[in-house]
Amino acid sequence: MKVSVKIKRFDPNKEKKSYWEQFEAEVEPTDRVLDALLYIKGYIDGSLTLRYSCAHGVCGSDALVINGRNRLACKVLVKDVGKKITVEPLRNLPVVKDLVVDMTGFFDRYKKVMPFLVNNDPVPPKERNQSPEDREKFDDTTKCILCAACSTSCPSYWANDEYVGPATVVAAHRFIFDSRDQAAGERLKVMNETGGVWRCRTVLNCLEACPRDINIPKAIAEVKGALLRGKK
Ligand code: SF4
Ligand code: FES
Repeated sequence: MKVSVKIKRFDPNKEKKSYWEQFEAEVEPTDRVLDALLYIKGYIDGSLTLRYSCAHGVCGSDALVINGRNRLACKVLVKDVGKKITVEPLRNLPVVKDLVVDMTGFFDRYKKVMPFLVNNDPVPPKERNQSPEDREKFDDTTKCILCAACSTSCPSYWANDEYVGPATVVAAHRFIFDSRDQAAGERLKVMNETGGVWRCRTVLNCLEACPRDINIPKAIAEVKGALLRGKK
């Protein structure tokens, strides 16, 4: 089938503002939007710039605004979005070129919550044990692939340069509720700052945007609860 793909193009080194360009791609209904973009790049315009890696919903590098919604190009089937497709880069991040955005600001905020296990106890001979019940407490938030679809769909994130954004709260949750970790207090301190979790206004765009179906509002509520209780 033939589909029309309207792509927002922009080369900040050469152009003053972005513009739309329309292409026709030959694809199967079961192809992904990523396949349509690669068809255009391969057969029509090699200068089209996009980012992807795994092509299977794992690496998080091809989150885009597709028909107005934040999604992974490698997970959306052409038959599910129709014959007229619009593709834009993620909002509120600087465009490097066409569909590639600069993720530096996103990762700077993410790093604030120390997204790694902190445990200063002597290393045990085997592993650090954890009960299935304790593991379950943060199972959902381990699924994050750092695609930024949630944060870049959030009006609070757009409006406040300080707000760490839902993806960072998800990362904080993943370690705050890990029984093996010893730095929950430091992460909660970041969550309690001006740009922390209280900036969330429960708009819930993140819930629809997340390609991993993480219950982000629940994670946010649990982090807020931990702050209110003063403990995890
Ligand atoms: Fe992407 Fe979901 Fe992680 Fe947000 S929480 S960065 S939408 S995978
Ligand atoms: Fe890896 Fe889409 S290319 S998630």
